[in-house]
Amino acid sequence: MIKPEIKHLKDYTPSEFTIKSIDLTIEIENELTRVSSHMQIEKNRAVSNKVTSLILNKSDYAITSVIANGMVLLPEEYETDINHLKLIRTPDKFELEIESILKPHENTTLEGLYQSGDILCTQCEAEGFRKITPFLDRPDVMSTYSCTIVADKNKYPILLSNGNLVKTGELDNDRHFARWEDPFKKPSYLFALVAGDLAVLEDTFITQSGRAVDLKIYSEKENINQCDHAMLSLKQAMKWDEKRFGLEYDLDLYQIVAINDFNAGAMENKGLNIFNSKYVLAKPETATDEDFMNVQGVIGHEYFHNWTGNRVTLNNWFQLSLKEGLTVFRDQEFSSDLNSRGVKRISCIRNLRAFQFPEDSGPMVHPVRPASYMEMNNFYTMTVYEKGSELVRMIHQIIGEKKFQKGMKLYFNKFDGMAVSIEDFVGVMEDAGNINFTQFKLWYSQSGTPTIKISRHYDAKNRQLHITFEQYTPPDRNQADKKPLHIPVKIGIIDHEGIEVLNEDNALIELKEEKETFIFNDIPQGGLPSVFRQFTAPVKIQTDFNDEELALLMAHDSDEFNKWDAAQTLFIKQIIRLVECFQSNSDMIIDRHLTAAFQNALEDLHINRAFIARMLTLPTETEIKDHFKIIDVTAIHAARKSLEKQIAVSMESLLIETINRCSKSDPASLSHEAMADRSLKNLCLSYLGSLKTPATTDLIQGCFSGAKNMTDEFSAFRILCEIDTETKKEAVEQFYKKWSHDKLVLDKWFAVQAASSLPDTLENVRLLTKHPDFSLRNPNKVRSLIYMFSLFNPIHFHSSDGSGYQFVSNQILTLDSINHQIAARLSSCFNHWKKYDNVRQGLMKKELERIIEVQTLSKNVYEIVSRALES
Ligand code: BES
Ligand code: ZN
Repeated sequence: MIKPEIKHLKDYTPSEFTIKSIDLTIEIENELTRVSSHMQIEKNRAVSNKVTSLILNKSDYAITSVIANGMVLLPEEYETDINHLKLIRTPDKFELEIESILKPHENTTLEGLYQSGDILCTQCEAEGFRKITPFLDRPDVMSTYSCTIVADKNKYPILLSNGNLVKTGELDNDRHFARWEDPFKKPSYLFALVAGDLAVLEDTFITQSGRAVDLKIYSEKENINQCDHAMLSLKQAMKWDEKRFGLEYDLDLYQIVAINDFNAGAMENKGLNIFNSKYVLAKPETATDEDFMNVQGVIGHEYFHNWTGNRVTLNNWFQLSLKEGLTVFRDQEFSSDLNSRGVKRISCIRNLRAFQFPEDSGPMVHPVRPASYMEMNNFYTMTVYEKGSELVRMIHQIIGEKKFQKGMKLYFNKFDGMAVSIEDFVGVMEDAGNINFTQFKLWYSQSGTPTIKISRHYDAKNRQLHITFEQYTPPDRNQADKKPLHIPVKIGIIDHEGIEVLNEDNALIELKEEKETFIFNDIPQGGLPSVFRQFTAPVKIQTDFNDEELALLMAHDSDEFNKWDAAQTLFIKQIIRLVECFQSNSDMIIDRHLTAAFQNALEDLHINRAFIARMLTLPTETEIKDHFKIIDVTAIHAARKSLEKQIAVSMESLLIETINRCSKSDPASLSHEAMADRSLKNLCLSYLGSLKTPATTDLIQGCFSGAKNMTDEFSAFRILCEIDTETKKEAVEQFYKKWSHDKLVLDKWFAVQAASSLPDTLENVRLLTKHPDFSLRNPNKVRSLIYMFSLFNPIHFHSSDGSGYQFVSNQILTLDSINHQIAARLSSCFNHWKKYDNVRQGLMKKELERIIEVQTLSKNVYEIVSRALES
């Protein structure tokens, strides 16, 4: 295939034309949809004085007429190809009307205007608006939108778009219309439209200035009773943004629609958010506690975009982290303020380490502000989102909450209604913090995860502790030479009883050089540093602590991140030793101090149970693999399973006791205590499950059958699917029988089977792709079954005969002709092929080569696969 063009940040120039306003008329018919757009266009004198032709973006649909200033254009007055509409000579200021015809029911890409079930909806970010009508489809072209939707009133009683509903009316032939006007200028990626037969949940929010905002959540009729939690979350988000950021909502109406077929999690379209139904619908019988938390977080995230993304937007897509990193930071703070801060921080860090760190050391490595891309949709990455949010968090850490809020105020005062860049954001933070961030800004342009090596020296005579920090970032395709970064390190020192001995509260040191030593005075012998408290920077931390010191930190550190991290480091060190035993065919026996530390934690009644559950959760195989140069999937799997079982053997009675202690709360309660109890109880059950005795299996089957909420039911289900083929089969049948009517619960049913480490898994997954409830057209199903298999089932995906690889690459190829965004996401499962043994490397390379040979490959998949092959 022809190599797709690469876009570079350095080539960015402002648009030569602006589109002041666009008025759309969308007529929905049975087999097609007619779109007429009426635009006011002006040449941007500040940018260019030359006579230039206007080139609009489009995609593969028919244009039926082009009218400029009321005159029908003749075919020789414009040129079209699949992706462009070019007007050869244009006046400085003119009106342009274009009519085109779409076939939304044939659109399986789920970009632009498409059909999900009986609902018509849009997804425009990043470059989907051009699939609806020809336009300057770039975020720095901001226009005023109005939209009239015309459709059959029985099939599509609800007609929605951005802004305010200004007019509705009846038409002939059982048709009706609704006209929407959005008073705020916006880029095209924030346009949205929904038409369908939807039920609605309504509420009102009174803003801090006393305005009433109508809140409406739409879903399919049978699910409208599952929208209360989303509504509560929306009101919490609105209140929180007023309180913590002083930001009030700006329209009189806020609408959310739940859609079953959706590429992403959710989309922040102005006044009309469109959500994957998995992040709206929730009731205790069908959604886990984690699902409830996710709904709250995603509702918050999209709501917070109204200021960080919509009111102040991006001047080009390279700046994506300006809105996403900042809004992830805001949604994380929202979740932390409303729930347990420590537990939230730990889950973010696990996510960062398991997925962003590997991205940073693989073929897709890119800076938080990428310098180039082939397909923008491939750059909605962990680096742009999660690392981007960590950069905002570091700024916040360095200048403090007060100055950070001052910076946010400056940001909105200066840039409201504008399309700006990351540079502008850091600029206001420099002003507010009265600080120079020149070195800090390297974080946005330099890729890779720095490793910080920490060494200690105790000077007994002077009672001084010397701590040396060395930072190193390996070279990669973006930069051969990495410069030292500005890194904030929060630090404490504890004595052997866990008492804080560093007098400064919340001491923050700032690294700026390759190697620096800090001296701490009046430190007793054995004083133990607790570094990177709260994980103050997205770095790999390399310490020289021995197991006793780690156990001490695990038991006594006052910082929840470090307490948890000490436990994780102990587990990882143990697993590394077990892997060596497995590889040398010697007995895998765990150290006694580990079980002792485990027991201490489980018996400590002072710590929050949700936190204990996180601390005692073993790292997943995905998290463990990053600690090896060459990944031995079989050994890692065996070592982890062995560790789990040995802990269970020595803790059996304490585990049972803890389960009883944690089984007393109301199964339908979503209080923090009830959720904490469930998480610790279910963790203990999963340890017990590894024993596979008739008694423990019975106990878990009892929990499964008797569960009164999805958290308990799902957790038991997952454990049963690891015990043996017969137990799994029974549970799979029972679960299906009970839940076959519920799409979102079926996603869980597919996912658990895909992740099972039992021997028949690949065969079963293959069969499941033929199951009537499975469809490659539904991204949630693809994620549950195929992603899950490729990402969370290392032993079967990496099966040494290559069958797992072959299966997944076949799926990628079939999927690419249906939905190239989802196919590209899936194809990143081969990104780390260079980290496996020679046999597996060869097998994966063969699949990558087979994929790239395909002539009709999308540029989405091409970009991922070609980068993997180049690595
Ligand atoms: N703007 C994105 C949605 C999006 C993602 C559009 C990819 C186009 C391509 C939205 O705000 C978002 O970031 N959604 C996240 C969830 C969020 C909680 C991080 C998502 O969809 O995963
Ligand atoms: Zn977002």
